[in-house]
Amino acid sequence: MGGVFKIFLRTGGRHRWIVLLSVILATMAEGVGVASLLPVLAVAVDKDGAIAGKYSQTMRSILETLHVPLEIGPLLVILVAAIVIKAALTLVAYRNINSAVADVAADIRRRLVSSVLSVRWIYFARQPVGRLANAISLDASRAAQSFQLAASAIATLFQAIVYVIVAIVVSWKMAAVGLTLGLVVAAILNPFMRMTKQWSRRQRKRTEELVMLTTDAFASIKPLKAMARQHHFERFFEERIQKLRRALRSEAMSKNRMRTMREPIIISMLAIGFYFAFVVMRVGVAELVVMGILIRRMISTIGDVQEQMQASLSFETSYWAIDKLIREADALREPVWTGSQPTLEKGIALDRVSFGYDDRLVLDTFSMCAPAGKLTVLSGASGAGKTTITDLMLGLLEPRSGKVLLDGKPLDTLDLASWRRMIGYVPQELALFHDTVLANITLGDPEMDESAVIDALKLAGAWTFVEQLPEGLHTNVGERGSRLSGGQRQRLALARALVLNPRLLILDEVSSALDPATEAEICANVRGLTGERTIIAITHRPIWLEMADRVYMIGQPETVAGPQRAEAAI
Ligand SMILES: Nc1ncnc2c1ncn2[C@@H]1O[C@H](COP(=O)(O)OP(=O)(O)OP(=O)(O)O)[C@@H](O)[C@H]1O
Ligand SMILES: [Mg+2]
Repeated sequence: MGGVFKIFLRTGGRHRWIVLLSVILATMAEGVGVASLLPVLAVAVDKDGAIAGKYSQTMRSILETLHVPLEIGPLLVILVAAIVIKAALTLVAYRNINSAVADVAADIRRRLVSSVLSVRWIYFARQPVGRLANAISLDASRAAQSFQLAASAIATLFQAIVYVIVAIVVSWKMAAVGLTLGLVVAAILNPFMRMTKQWSRRQRKRTEELVMLTTDAFASIKPLKAMARQHHFERFFEERIQKLRRALRSEAMSKNRMRTMREPIIISMLAIGFYFAFVVMRVGVAELVVMGILIRRMISTIGDVQEQMQASLSFETSYWAIDKLIREADALREPVWTGSQPTLEKGIALDRVSFGYDDRLVLDTFSMCAPAGKLTVLSGASGAGKTTITDLMLGLLEPRSGKVLLDGKPLDTLDLASWRRMIGYVPQELALFHDTVLANITLGDPEMDESAVIDALKLAGAWTFVEQLPEGLHTNVGERGSRLSGGQRQRLALARALVLNPRLLILDEVSSALDPATEAEICANVRGLTGERTIIAITHRPIWLEMADRVYMIGQPETVAGPQRAEAAI
């Protein structure tokens, strides 16, 4: 339950305090209205103004101090005015709650995106995309709702406190009765709160699993369909959907159970209170009506606090799930190297680098050098560590021992962001965005010139087919570029890397899907870029090996063993 308060205190900005203030003032206005009902009733019942009853006397002296005549007209005006003020203040409170909720959702999403974008590369290999998708879309909305309900619960709590104060002013004994009854109601219903929390946690987990399965299954739907295996997945889906259904039903049931139980419990408590007041305390009719309203309000407000808390609890799990994700990502934040500006005049080298994922070493005191202005090819067996080598050069991975050197300077003493801005990179697992050719090349950079894009496309051997697309540069390439052929996708990915005019080009299997003629053309184009640019290409294709200035056969004993033999492999 403390979590709800924590969420309120951690989020929401200044809006939440305006919410609280306006709710308190609104409740006070309503309190004044209800309290003024007492003299109204007394005046109506006893036209001579000889108000009976000790509590009415309290009200009378208050009104006299305020110079309010004890007549029905002015008293009714006070009553109506108080209720209008209450409505206006409540409106202010709602407006602020709504703004705060929108802010909270936006803020959580922003924090999550920013944390995840700054995380170490290794984190992504372990992270199901569905978990992030679920957190950014569904969980963030639920977390904001949880804040909204926490804010309402806290505001209503203040309301309850104001009612208690107003009741004390009118009659402290009756206030004590009302408060006790309210707390008894809350205590009886408390076990349902715990149940709701449990079920909502389960519900969130099940939703997350379903989103994870969805993103996974649809990302690789083609082989599933091609081999008629989608029905297996249908079974997985069915299982998850059933589990989610059960969790949703139980969550809703526990909420409804509490709501349904509330009414009879409140009425029983009111009956007890009424009996107490009428028979034991012998309170007059006028006071009884006013106190009846106040006590009823007190009890139901305490009930409201509980119900809002319950609802907030059911969304709270999402808030804490995102919080956990952000903390996890922050703990694995990429180191920010902000040293001197990198240069690439001589070359990029790995000096006795060892690196492994988990327990297995992939590179063992491995050394190599890609001279500036030359084409260096990394070749060798699949799984030997070629992509790993380039990830180390990009600063996406850090060596366990040894150094990555740029012009002889260790990479971790240089400005990493500047270094990466000098690089054009074509990954092995290339994926295009569901957007136009142009957007896929500029990657959202509005400054980039369209003629530069066309030049890059020409260099990558892509312009001829782009030109022929129905809307040219503005053709949408489909989900992950599925409206293009594999080789066309590769060429767009190459153009994306070339358009930045990078000092270093890293090409990971850039021509694996191309026919020999197109490959030869692109290889010659890339070769022509050397001199000004340094190029590292990972490939097994003979034409690249022929054109290379240097070739490293990764994974072969003589390459992995050490620097001398690495050089011997050139
Ligand atoms: N994120 C990871 N976690 C654990 N092991 C990994 C990870 N990435 C790669 N590996 C392992 O590290 C080894 C080297 O992988 P890498 O991707 O560098 O190979 P590669 O030479 O590029 O292979 P290919 O030619 O098939 O692309 C492989 O055995 C692979 O299983
Ligand atoms: Mg690879």
